[in-house]
Amino acid sequence: MVTLTNNNEIYILPNLKDLFLQVAEDFIHRAIAAVENRGEFTVVLSGGNTPKLLLTTLVEAETKFHKIPWGKIKFFFGDERYVPLDNIESNYHMAYEYLFSKVPVLMDNIYRIPTEFSNPSLAAKEYERTLYSVFQLKKNQFPKFDLVYLGLGEDGHTASLMPGSRFKKHRLVVALWLKKTNKYRITLTPACINHAANVVFLVTGANKASAVREVLEGPLIPELYPAQLIHCLNSRTLWYLEKAAASKLSFLKDF
Ligand code: 6PG
Repeated sequence: MVTLTNNNEIYILPNLKDLFLQVAEDFIHRAIAAVENRGEFTVVLSGGNTPKLLLTTLVEAETKFHKIPWGKIKFFFGDERYVPLDNIESNYHMAYEYLFSKVPVLMDNIYRIPTEFSNPSLAAKEYERTLYSVFQLKKNQFPKFDLVYLGLGEDGHTASLMPGSRFKKHRLVVALWLKKTNKYRITLTPACINHAANVVFLVTGANKASAVREVLEGPLIPELYPAQLIHCLNSRTLWYLEKAAASKLSFLKDF
């Protein structure tokens, strides 16, 4: 089911299997089209648990169909926990375990967020330098990723843009202190995300239903619900919701 609310395009799928099959199909079509048109596909992976099911579905698709142009895909990360690469909390570690170690990606095409710097702000600056170089950006320009995946926290955060986060508008990447985990996070800024060609939220679970409703239908309070800062500038912002995560949306009552 597709419903449009203020430039969001919402897809609601009845269960996880249907959801991730559709998202994987969308990924494959976008990757093939981008590689045919430009010779590459640039995708930003999100962290946490939700992407694991998407990456598993993509590996299964590769096993069956062998049609994903892995060697032409450049992988980036929307955010990273400031932990060593081999730490179970690392988003890069998760992507490696679930995808990079299972399909023929080019390791040179994986642009992970560095977490080896003593000062997380230097890591953010280094990742910014990487984006400037890979996308050949001039000052105050933003990368136009083909596709950015985002998750949604129960508190309405996305990437590592947490309630109350503060950052300079011209930045592409920032380091933010996360009080609740006593750790730093490195994250793309809303402006960096919004300049993508396509932005896709993947949200599952009844525990996210309140956040989905507040972000999509509640009053505009981005300091409280940072996901409200995300509006793709080049296309509608896509939301792929498992039915349980969409269960508190008011328009669902009309169906
Ligand atoms: C992270 C993510 C974060 C995540 C949401 C949802 O590094 O944790 O980028 O924004 O997408 O917290 O996490 P789950 O998918 O685990 O529910």
